[in-house]
Amino acid sequence: MGTVTVRVLFLFLSSSALFLLMDVSTAQMPGFVSLDCGGADNFTDELGLKWGPDNHIITGKIANISIPNETRKQYKTLRYFPADNKKYCYTLNVITRTRYLIRATFLYGNFDNNNVYPKFDVSFGPTHWATIVISDANTIEVQELIFLATDPTISICLSNASTGKPFISTLELRQFNGSVYYNEFENQFYLSVSARINFGAPSDAPLRYPDDPFDRIWESDRMKKANYLVDVAPGTDIVSTTTPIYASHDETPPQKVMQTAVVGRNGSLSYRLNLDGFPGNGWAFTYFAEIENLGPSDTRKFRLLLPGQPDVSKAIVNIQENAQGRYRLYEPGFYNISLPFVLNFRFEKTSDSTMGPLLNAMEINKYLEKSDGSADGPLLVALSRAYSSAEWAQEGGDPCIPAPWSWVRCSSDPQLRITSIKLSGKNLMGTIPIELTKLDGLVELWLDNTSLSGSIPDFSGCQNLKKIHLENNQLTGELPSSLAHLPNLKELYIQNNKLSGKMPSGLLNKDLFLNYTGNSHLQKGGNVEKHKKIIIGLSVVAAVLLIAAIASYILLPKLKKNHKQEKIQHGLSAQRLVSSIGDAASEFAHYFTLIEIKDATKNFERKIGSGGFGVVYYGRLKDGKEIAVKILTNDTFQGKREFSNEVSLLSRIHHRNLVQFLGYCQEEGKSILVYEFMHNGTLKELLYSPSTHGSGINWLKRLEIAEDAARGIEYLHTGCVPSIIHRDLKTSNILLDKNMGAKVSDFGLSKLSVDGASHVSSIVRGTLGYLDPEYYISQQLTEKSDVYSFGVVLLELISGQEAISNEKFGANCRNIVQWAKVHIESGNIQGIIDPALQDYDIQSMWKIAEKALMCIQPHGNMRPSISQVIKDIQDAIAIERAEAMKEGSSDEISKHSSSHNIGGSLDLGTSEHYLSIDDSIARPTAR
Ligand SMILES: *[C@@H]1O[C@H](CO)[C@@H](O)[C@H](O)[C@H]1NC(C)=O
Ligand SMILES: *[C@@H]1O[C@H](CO)[C@@H](O)[C@H](O)[C@H]1NC(C)=O
Ligand SMILES: *[C@@H]1O[C@H](CO)[C@@H](O)[C@H](O)[C@H]1NC(C)=O
Ligand SMILES: *[C@@H]1O[C@H](CO)[C@@H](O)[C@H](O)[C@H]1NC(C)=O
Ligand SMILES: *[C@@H]1O[C@H](CO)[C@@H](O)[C@H](O)[C@H]1NC(C)=O
Ligand SMILES: *[C@@H]1O[C@H](CO)[C@@H](O)[C@H](O)[C@H]1NC(C)=O
Repeated sequence: MGTVTVRVLFLFLSSSALFLLMDVSTAQMPGFVSLDCGGADNFTDELGLKWGPDNHIITGKIANISIPNETRKQYKTLRYFPADNKKYCYTLNVITRTRYLIRATFLYGNFDNNNVYPKFDVSFGPTHWATIVISDANTIEVQELIFLATDPTISICLSNASTGKPFISTLELRQFNGSVYYNEFENQFYLSVSARINFGAPSDAPLRYPDDPFDRIWESDRMKKANYLVDVAPGTDIVSTTTPIYASHDETPPQKVMQTAVVGRNGSLSYRLNLDGFPGNGWAFTYFAEIENLGPSDTRKFRLLLPGQPDVSKAIVNIQENAQGRYRLYEPGFYNISLPFVLNFRFEKTSDSTMGPLLNAMEINKYLEKSDGSADGPLLVALSRAYSSAEWAQEGGDPCIPAPWSWVRCSSDPQLRITSIKLSGKNLMGTIPIELTKLDGLVELWLDNTSLSGSIPDFSGCQNLKKIHLENNQLTGELPSSLAHLPNLKELYIQNNKLSGKMPSGLLNKDLFLNYTGNSHLQKGGNVEKHKKIIIGLSVVAAVLLIAAIASYILLPKLKKNHKQEKIQHGLSAQRLVSSIGDAASEFAHYFTLIEIKDATKNFERKIGSGGFGVVYYGRLKDGKEIAVKILTNDTFQGKREFSNEVSLLSRIHHRNLVQFLGYCQEEGKSILVYEFMHNGTLKELLYSPSTHGSGINWLKRLEIAEDAARGIEYLHTGCVPSIIHRDLKTSNILLDKNMGAKVSDFGLSKLSVDGASHVSSIVRGTLGYLDPEYYISQQLTEKSDVYSFGVVLLELISGQEAISNEKFGANCRNIVQWAKVHIESGNIQGIIDPALQDYDIQSMWKIAEKALMCIQPHGNMRPSISQVIKDIQDAIAIERAEAMKEGSSDEISKHSSSHNIGGSLDLGTSEHYLSIDDSIARPTAR
């Protein structure tokens, strides 16, 4: 297994701020970082976790503590921070689009000999994660968050001390391998861990790494802290086994957790449990495996009872039946259930059951809403990046919340905005950062006493500016006259620079404190004549521009509108355009004579394909250009008019990922379309022809083909006005050129889509296996129907299986969608990956599988747009390329997967409506 180096940025601010980078190497698991805050050494603990210090690079603010019975080295030290109005951030590198667990722990140990129990906030980027309230000097407070990384770094910040000083004992980052925690809300919410309980545990000790390869901590159900897991029903018994428990994916509870359970001998199991962070909406799953020997006449059937939630009790658990055998995992749960802080839950046997309920483990996480942070955040982050070696640029987290960076002031009314930037005396070089001119809430700007040079930019984007300090720099050039137009400007300091030219008169007339001494070439007055002329000259130009702008504003939309209407009419009824349409076609499209075509194809000698619209022949024009000639079946277009209509449309569509239309011919009752010839045939042949059987194209190539095809579709959807819906996207309509670049064909033979609204058409057109079920039922055609078909293509690329097959998908399933969905939902992604694929990164496979699932959602509005799909394909390609770059040095383990879980039990096939996070209806699902 390889060694992953993670750069950990530690921020420490005091009167003289100090920022340092640290390398922590972990050898146990990729994506593990274990920081011993305040520690001095690298060490491996008795579990095999490798801890890294931070104090060899940080001066001050470390405390040693000693707790009775606490022998772990990482809890002998801690790091603390002043109780001020700043934030102190750890920044860690992560892999985007990967799920992680982040755990922060806090053991006070009376480090400051104060016995004032600290209370402070921890945030995750701009999101308030938790308020840490210490209530016992010797008890470890733990906070855990499960998140999907969206940026290459994360920041964990301590701030806002209400009492005592903020401190931290450990920070642990654990990378997940699959997506048990995948949920449809994860772009807006994190999962904050509330309870993870191992029932029937043999001792008080929690179970974690290496039993759990992801180092989740499974608390023992014997750890009965005050109010924690109490009210245990009489007759509760412990059972255990040594037989391995079968599970279909990696991220299930560890064997040791599943091999123990509690059983309600009197017919019920009941508990009361305090749920940290609740009331609220949560993710709650239970884990069952039948580990008792049941007699032949015995049954174990039970229900979950929650006070006030009768719906929950409808589902009956029968572990053996649900898991299809003994020693097999069954994991039903709720993706969105509303739970109270004090949770009373009970499992009760059904009246016809001979055995009481059994429970192995459970996990409850609360949805924590992400905060967007300040609107200006990205600008300042970009600015900081340009000064990445400067201390002030390393503060981490959001520029404004929970506490602003030391050189930033913000206001939150009405929305979070940066109001002041103070970088006086900082080592700023080069020109004034352009990002600053885009902070539209800025009131004060302090850039004095730095080494800035170049000219002063246009600050007219910052209409609220009151004070500008630019004195004592190396600024050159003229003062922009736009400064005079800042309505609120009250103070402008530009003394001791190298500014030249004339002072804009507007500035001199303004009610303003202005100091511009020490700019030897800056003249106060100047040639008023010339000045006026410039103004006049400028106003003439401005007037001309203004007139032009007004004209185009009035005229252009009209022109566009006409154009659009014309096209819509083309698509819907050609009647009114009879006379002009032939002209329209010839105006745009090249006409081939039948003689030319017969010559080129040697009288239709070589047939290279056939499809819904006709037969395709190979041809070569006189100039050597190779062509594909499609003779349309007679009934495709009833008349000349309709044909011309389609042709005129076709000739207007050009994109590198669409097969190029060269011209047409209509003679002797034949309607013929001429296209560029694509040397490498169709994707369908490439994937399924008996000779190659997909072995010719590796995963990266498949991704590139997917990207190309998606770009072609994106152009049809967004680049054409009105947009075009392909309606018949499939692997036989994706063609490959000489260089294996992919292009979409057979577009535009379908009707134009009508702007905006969906389109009601009388005939459902498409190919079985690719056809959007929603379109089939409603006949409402939208771009999302193409997205559905594209999802099917993605599944084919992953699996190397055709969309429809009589044998491959099992008894009752002929369709790749059902087959792939069942596998992916049950966590067995490996079960669908094309055996011909040898070399791929599992993360990239993930992204595509996840996206494919989204594309084949039953309802169009739940599917992503094709542009969103492209983003994920690009992410996946980036991962594969990065892997290819480090080929040889990389570890094989992460590249070849065995079993992965995706999506848990997203109820894709049957859900009637999109469940929102506020929806308190609890829906049980099972994985
Ligand atoms: C800890 O390990 C890292 C990486 O192996 C190394 O760079 C660093 O010097 C070590 N620190 C100490 C204090 O040994
Ligand atoms: C903590 O303990 C170490 C060694 O045990 C010692 O070198 C260090 O000075 C102590 N630090 C503080 C802040 O007391
Ligand atoms: C420490 O451990 C001993 C023996 O295991 C026990 O008797 C004692 O109560 C423990 N002390 C604390 C403070 O937990
Ligand atoms: C600090 O916490 C207090 C109390 O929760 C809150 O009112 C205040 O807004 C917080 N300050 C910041 C900067 O978040
Ligand atoms: C203008 O700046 C110069 C140089 O810093 C300073 O000496 C002078 O006092 C300032 N003038 C006023 C009116 O503040
Ligand atoms: C992560 O995934 C790979 C590939 O499926 C697998 O071999 C490995 O065991 C997994 N790691 C863990 C900790 O489950």
